[in-house]
Amino acid sequence: MQEANMAAMSRSLALAFFFICYAASSFSSSLASSDSFLQCLSEKIPSELLYTQSSPSFTSVLEATIRNPKFLTNTTRPVWIITPTNVSHVQAAVVCGRQEGVRLRVRSGGHDYEGLSYRSERPESFAVLDLVKIRAVRVENQNATAWVDSGATLGEMYYAIGKAGNQLAFPAGLCPTVGVGGHFSGGGFGMLLRKYGLAADNVIDAVLVDAKGRLLDKNSMGSNVFWAIRGGGGESFGIVLSWKIKLVAVPPTVTAFRVPVTINQGAVDVLTRWQDVAPALPDDLIIRVVVQGQTATFQSLYLGTCDALLPVMRSRFPELGMNRSHCKEMTWIQSVPYIYLGSSATVEDILNRTIAMDTSNKATSDYVRQAITKDVWTEIFSWLAQPNAGLMILDPYGGKISSIPEAATPFPHRGGVLYNIQYMNFWRAGGGGDAQRTWIRDFYAFMAPYVSKNPREAYANYRDLDLGENVVVGGVSSYEAGKVWGEKYFKGNYQRLAMAKGEIDPDDYFRNEQSIPPLVTSGN
Ligand SMILES: Cc1cc2nc3c(=O)[nH]c(=O)nc-3n(C[C@H](O)[C@H](O)[C@H](O)COP(=O)(O)OP(=O)(O)OC[C@H]3O[C@@H](n4cnc5c(N)ncnc54)[C@H](O)[C@@H]3O)c2cc1C
Ligand SMILES: *[C@@H]1O[C@H](CO)[C@@H](O)[C@H](O)[C@H]1NC(C)=O
Ligand SMILES: *[C@@H]1O[C@H](CO)[C@@H](O)[C@H](O)[C@H]1NC(C)=O
Ligand SMILES: *[C@@H]1O[C@H](CO)[C@@H](O)[C@H](O)[C@H]1NC(C)=O
Ligand SMILES: *[C@@H]1O[C@H](CO)[C@@H](O)[C@H](O)[C@H]1NC(C)=O
Ligand SMILES: *[C@@H]1O[C@H](CO)[C@@H](O)[C@H](O)[C@H]1NC(C)=O
Repeated sequence: MQEANMAAMSRSLALAFFFICYAASSFSSSLASSDSFLQCLSEKIPSELLYTQSSPSFTSVLEATIRNPKFLTNTTRPVWIITPTNVSHVQAAVVCGRQEGVRLRVRSGGHDYEGLSYRSERPESFAVLDLVKIRAVRVENQNATAWVDSGATLGEMYYAIGKAGNQLAFPAGLCPTVGVGGHFSGGGFGMLLRKYGLAADNVIDAVLVDAKGRLLDKNSMGSNVFWAIRGGGGESFGIVLSWKIKLVAVPPTVTAFRVPVTINQGAVDVLTRWQDVAPALPDDLIIRVVVQGQTATFQSLYLGTCDALLPVMRSRFPELGMNRSHCKEMTWIQSVPYIYLGSSATVEDILNRTIAMDTSNKATSDYVRQAITKDVWTEIFSWLAQPNAGLMILDPYGGKISSIPEAATPFPHRGGVLYNIQYMNFWRAGGGGDAQRTWIRDFYAFMAPYVSKNPREAYANYRDLDLGENVVVGGVSSYEAGKVWGEKYFKGNYQRLAMAKGEIDPDDYFRNEQSIPPLVTSGN
């Protein structure tokens, strides 16, 4: 609960779309505690893997994957950090935590939009279990599968898959520094979502340490828990150490393109049309949109050559004015840096874990099931023209992601969804961002009539505590209170998630402000 010193980094505000991957600044530290927890840990974990607030490297270890500078200060920090190198250390941390009454927050890549993997909204003494040293990726080439440890980044995973051949890929998010652990837990989607669905849809086994410190796999954790960890959000069910994934096939040549359209060039009409076109395109083609300022930038990946793509664009979406000069042909692994980091980035750049930390941000999300009218798009552009405005990212669904039944996984935003909206706003690190936070909240309120309702759906991996927070009643998070945010993320699957939580962690040991509350049906 220590107020930290913020070394404000006052570089210019780089509103570089969504290229927001960050690095670190500084904090002060103090205290430590009377330490029976540390005592317990030291018997089972080498001391160089344990940090208290008085350890010289506590701050740098903590900040290494804080990805949003607003969480460097003004929040409750951990009292301990553990960086296990072995499964046995993770089990020991849980056993000691239970014994000494210390909760663990698990961190993989640290990209949580509310920072819940390393901070608490409330005063409490907790430990961060940071999986940064458990990050191997083992591709099993012949079987087109891989085991990926949670501490790996998406970039590290993609890189290893790319090394295994140019016709293997995996459908997950765009940002290479995002961690596998949190990302798979909440679903995970990117440029292959229309062809292959979510990352979590392609998980075929997992290794979990539960609240009793047991090491479980797909069979021993039980079908409800194995269902729950693939999209039900991080933290709730235990610590997933490793995931077995099914790799997917891509052709040796893929084509990327990027077409910006300004409002004067007809962005309102093109966007209005895009809403009907994009979710109905062939699954091999995705066209997402970043709307910022008065420009809509259409970003695409096609699983095939430019020659094959052009007739599809001509017949399905001539309004965009895309032509051969926009095509960039490459391998799938080359498309990963190209799309997220820009045309000068190399494949090696996706291994870089260091990111700029010059802006803080706030994000939230919506789902659209009925196309928004032209008049409303005109109003949206005037919101985006306001001072302190942020941006919108529109990811079209349809194809595989939409063909999976709503209850087959915890992620319920399937059939009937046209697209996901991510709203994001930025401000210079060190600033309070009041005007930008107000803008995003007001814009979200403005959008209410035009997006999904009852519930107003939201994507769990774009966590937003404005949607609601847990209330602890009788020592556990309340199932009823959790419905407020839980049904937005999970719709009707919220109840089954709570029952799975009741099976694996009825005491609610693994908890945070938006973890799944346990629902224990009484009796036998
Ligand atoms: C710059 C940026 C770009 C993004 N791009 C995309 C995108 O393209 N597509 C998309 O779908 N999402 C995207 N996201 C959202 C991202 O998927 C989520 O923030 C995700 O939860 C991050 O995972 P992490 O491991 O990095 O985060 P963390 O902060 O480490 O963890 C997130 C949550 O999961 C829990 N958790 C972490 N590891 C484990 C584990 N091993 N076992 C159990 N629980 C765990 C944490 O306690 C926390 O509650 C993006 C986010 C950012 C900041
Ligand atoms: C600190 O946190 C409080 C409560 O969350 C918030 O009202 C306040 O604006 C924050 N201060 C800064 C400087 O961010
Ligand atoms: C790692 O953990 C496994 C399983 O608990 C254990 O058998 C092994 O001895 C540990 N290895 C090391 C080096 O600690
Ligand atoms: C492929 O799968 C089989 C059976 O599941 C397994 O025995 C074999 O080791 C796997 N091959 C590789 C390269 O992992
Ligand atoms: C392709 O489109 C660009 C702009 O969108 C335009 O400048 C160019 O003339 C077009 N090329 C052809 C061959 O039509
Ligand atoms: C990694 O990325 C950071 C931030 O963009 C950059 O400053 C640094 O030079 C990169 N490191 C390497 C080795 O490319």
